[in-house]
Amino acid sequence: MKVLIVGSGGREHAIATSVSKSPRVDKIYCAPGNAGIGQIAECAAIGAMEFDKLVAFAKEQQIDLTIIGMDDPLVAGVVDAFEAAGLRVFGPRKNAAILEGSKAFSKDLMKKYHIPTAAYETFENADEALAYLETAQYPIVLKADGLALGKGVLICNTLEEAKEGVRSIMLDKQFGAAGNRMVVEEFMTGREVSVLSYVDGRTIKTMTSAQDHKRAQDGDQGLNTGGMGTFSPSPFYTDEVDKFCQEQIYQATVDAMAAEGRPFQGIIFFGLMLTPNGPKVLEYNARFGDPEAQVVLPRMKNDIIDVMEACIDGKLDTVDLQFEDNAAVCVVLASDGYPVSYEKGLEIRGLEKFDGKDGYYCFHAGTKLDENGRFVTNGGRVLGVTAKGADLKEARANAYAATAWVDFDNKYMRHDIGKAIDEA
Ligand code: AMP
Ligand code: GLY
Repeated sequence: MKVLIVGSGGREHAIATSVSKSPRVDKIYCAPGNAGIGQIAECAAIGAMEFDKLVAFAKEQQIDLTIIGMDDPLVAGVVDAFEAAGLRVFGPRKNAAILEGSKAFSKDLMKKYHIPTAAYETFENADEALAYLETAQYPIVLKADGLALGKGVLICNTLEEAKEGVRSIMLDKQFGAAGNRMVVEEFMTGREVSVLSYVDGRTIKTMTSAQDHKRAQDGDQGLNTGGMGTFSPSPFYTDEVDKFCQEQIYQATVDAMAAEGRPFQGIIFFGLMLTPNGPKVLEYNARFGDPEAQVVLPRMKNDIIDVMEACIDGKLDTVDLQFEDNAAVCVVLASDGYPVSYEKGLEIRGLEKFDGKDGYYCFHAGTKLDENGRFVTNGGRVLGVTAKGADLKEARANAYAATAWVDFDNKYMRHDIGKAIDEA
């Protein structure tokens, strides 16, 4: 069969790598893709938001299955566009992707269906939000309602900071229309865990756990980024935590969406905080995490096409989802200056050192081929170097060893990805 993947990051490279292992797949296309994806797929220069062009391309190439990797097209209804054209597509429809697209929606859903999450208030008016802050407890968390590249969350320690935050989100529109509404939320403490799951509208099967590192610098300092590295599984995600979440959070979310007339098919990514009062939902995403996908997918034993088709056909209950009994660590190699400003077009050397190395992956994010056919940097997050190991410590040592195989000017990484493992 022919498969089209929509997106251009490390996540999509990890998805494409899994798809390439399926004996059912003859040819992979990716739109728009990147230089690394281009080694295993044919890349088409179509943007992820160009729905008409994507649909026309899928028809022309007789694509059997399209997989949507990114949040923006999902929230804007790309799945509906494919379905309207009679095309098979993996991902939630617009009315279900709102689970990620609106924080106010997801918070109201959790409240209505008693799914554990932080206490909150929603505001559509800056004056009301400012008045509320006068009586609130600090620290407090402000969230722009809509998509904001993972940057629309502000943790404010004082009333002054919070007022400034409300002004920048709701009045100055720092995150654009995402800030037309705002959620003000109780500050929670604890370890964070990401749990990704496959969902077919009724049945949910969770994948192995992972943990991201969102801040730019060592010791969780600096600005929030899309993610600087991940490890999987999380040693803090115990059987007891899993049991609680299976009973109180996962199925409850799927049932709630179905009850609202918004059946969810695709990936639900549960961002969890393990608080002293038990696990609570920080956020939902409607797609694989990036770089979570880069440590979770390499450990999945199933044929990814079988699992995705079972989601589309409502047959996920027949799938026995299995993961390897090992660990993986991903260290993101970024351009120095990310997430603010950075140079592009710098040559990347040493990529061939990954060839034929079992258990090692160099997933491309911001890369392209220049006019001379050389791999060059083309974004803030450039590569995701992933390695497996028998356990987390071995995987971490392997991943950091492999970060030395590749080089480019202004190469930047965190040196403490997976440090939490030592505290487990
Ligand atoms: P989100 O995009 O909602 O996952 O938020 C981004 C990051 O902000 C999370 O990964 C947490 O580190 C932090 N965060 C979000 N909500 C809260 C909260 N209620 N309490 C403490 N930290 C939070
Ligand atoms: N790594 C976090 C995300 O993909 O949203």
